[in-house]
Amino acid sequence: MDELFMVLFLVLLTTASRVAGNMLDDKIFILGELEELDIAEENEVENFEIPSWTSESGGKVLVNVDSYGATGDGESDDTQAFRKAWDTACSTPKSVFLVPPGRRYLVNATSFKGPCADRIIIQIDGTIIAPDEPKNWDPNLPQLWLDFSKLKGVIFQGNGVIDGSGSKWWASSCKKNKTNPCREAPSALTIDSSSAVGVNGLTIQNSQQMHFVISRCDFVRVSQVQVSAPADSPNTDGIHISESTNVVLQDCKIGTGDDCISIVNASSAIKMKRIYCGPGHGISIGSLGKDNSTGIVTRVVLDTALLRETTNGVRIKTWQGGSGYVRGVRFENVMMEDVVNPIIIDQFYCDSSTVCPNETSAVQISQIMYRNISGTTRSQKAMTFACSDTVPCSNIVLSNINLERKDGTVETYCNSARGSGYGIVHPSADCLKSQDKDYVVTDHREIAELAEPTRNDDHIDHTEL
Ligand SMILES: *[C@@H]1O[C@H](CO)[C@@H](O)[C@H](O)[C@H]1NC(C)=O
Ligand SMILES: *[C@@H]1O[C@H](CO)[C@@H](O)[C@H](O)[C@H]1NC(C)=O
Ligand SMILES: *[C@@H]1O[C@H](CO)[C@@H](O)[C@H](O)[C@H]1NC(C)=O
Ligand SMILES: *[C@@H]1O[C@H](CO)[C@@H](O)[C@H](O)[C@H]1NC(C)=O
Ligand SMILES: *[C@@H]1O[C@H](CO)[C@@H](O)[C@H](O)[C@H]1NC(C)=O
Ligand SMILES: *[C@@H]1O[C@H](CO)[C@@H](O)[C@H](O)[C@H]1NC(C)=O
Repeated sequence: MDELFMVLFLVLLTTASRVAGNMLDDKIFILGELEELDIAEENEVENFEIPSWTSESGGKVLVNVDSYGATGDGESDDTQAFRKAWDTACSTPKSVFLVPPGRRYLVNATSFKGPCADRIIIQIDGTIIAPDEPKNWDPNLPQLWLDFSKLKGVIFQGNGVIDGSGSKWWASSCKKNKTNPCREAPSALTIDSSSAVGVNGLTIQNSQQMHFVISRCDFVRVSQVQVSAPADSPNTDGIHISESTNVVLQDCKIGTGDDCISIVNASSAIKMKRIYCGPGHGISIGSLGKDNSTGIVTRVVLDTALLRETTNGVRIKTWQGGSGYVRGVRFENVMMEDVVNPIIIDQFYCDSSTVCPNETSAVQISQIMYRNISGTTRSQKAMTFACSDTVPCSNIVLSNINLERKDGTVETYCNSARGSGYGIVHPSADCLKSQDKDYVVTDHREIAELAEPTRNDDHIDHTEL
């Protein structure tokens, strides 16, 4: 009898300690996961022999839009010349579709469709401009201006400019004037349903709506792209990523009237590196979950960014009533200058003229790490974690945060958010911990070291959480 009791007791004891151990293991595991969350910057695109298209040695076939009748005077319609040149370039291996420098080409909404022959280069050195009158826009392409699709292994490059001539579209937007009907406007450059794509050096400006849309793509490398539009131009997102995987954006300078970068549904393994954002609404995941839809975004890293005078810094925004999840995100090495909401999770996002009622379902947000984020906030709420009462945010990790305000009053707002902090966290985010009811921590320092394995930062001597 005694023996049986003893065995039972031991079983209970080991089970209990394993449960407690697992909880802690989970925390450490998540920290490790977020720590190691990385998206390779190398891929086959960069291994392409980028021409030297001007030199004969590359064996490239130049397809110059001028040879197909484009005038580049900024007034004649060069659409047909572009379409004919595209047909030739697309069907010719190793061709370079060339928009030569020094001129302005007026081009209507056009779909540049693949699949094409191998290794096409789209070299844009001149300026491509859109007709500026919304009334004359092709009704068959309401959301597109320059639309490239079904390409595999293609490079867009050059010092050229893509200019959406968007001012009349902005003025007729329902966001600008409530008496206007709400209507979709075109995106300037769209790359759709493509893989192994490189985009290098272009400037995209004054888009009718979003500037550069990457949708349904895999393996995209974007570098040194500049985007600019006035701060008050409505819905002019800089780079918008949708249903895409393995996307790296680096060394981009973006200033617009909406999100500098927005990442929406069915996107994963997205890396942003060395990004300048301002003016604009910040760098966003979402919005997700509108009209009870499913939104899923995973594995996103932002490393090294400067946000200046933007309305948000790093943001996750979801609508009430949605489903799906955002999981595995790391925002790090970010400097904020006079940003209204530097760090924000908003599960009550509502970009409509009517009030959005609270629902019981929501896009679930978890495993979000913020590390080495400092600078100045314009509003008092330097950090906002506004999460759904029924679908709380969990595993929010803050490490070395220092956000200040001129008058010294800064605070963190939490609703239904759980997480932890390591190193300096200013303003303190106790509200995350107090809501983390099941969080078991035995040795804080051990976990802090896990979160900071490569750093020997002198400041990590006090833990505010
Ligand atoms: C193309 O652009 C020209 C010049 O702006 C315009 O007259 C014409 O109606 C446009 N065509 C289409 C199909 O959009
Ligand atoms: C808004 O649009 C209406 C109708 O198009 C126009 O009469 C009104 O002047 C506009 N208001 C502003 C502030 O632009
Ligand atoms: C989001 O993507 C998933 C597939 O990953 C799809 O099932 C769902 O319909 C998408 N939601 C929207 C709003 O498109
Ligand atoms: C979303 O779901 C809620 C609750 O079921 C429902 O009341 C609402 O009408 C739905 N909204 C839309 C846009 O389908
Ligand atoms: C923290 O981020 C800033 C701003 O991006 C960067 O300059 C600095 O090197 C980072 N510090 C560490 C310890 O990585
Ligand atoms: C929704 O819930 C949040 C958190 O409880 C609350 O702050 C907000 O006022 C609610 N919104 C509406 C429209 O009821």
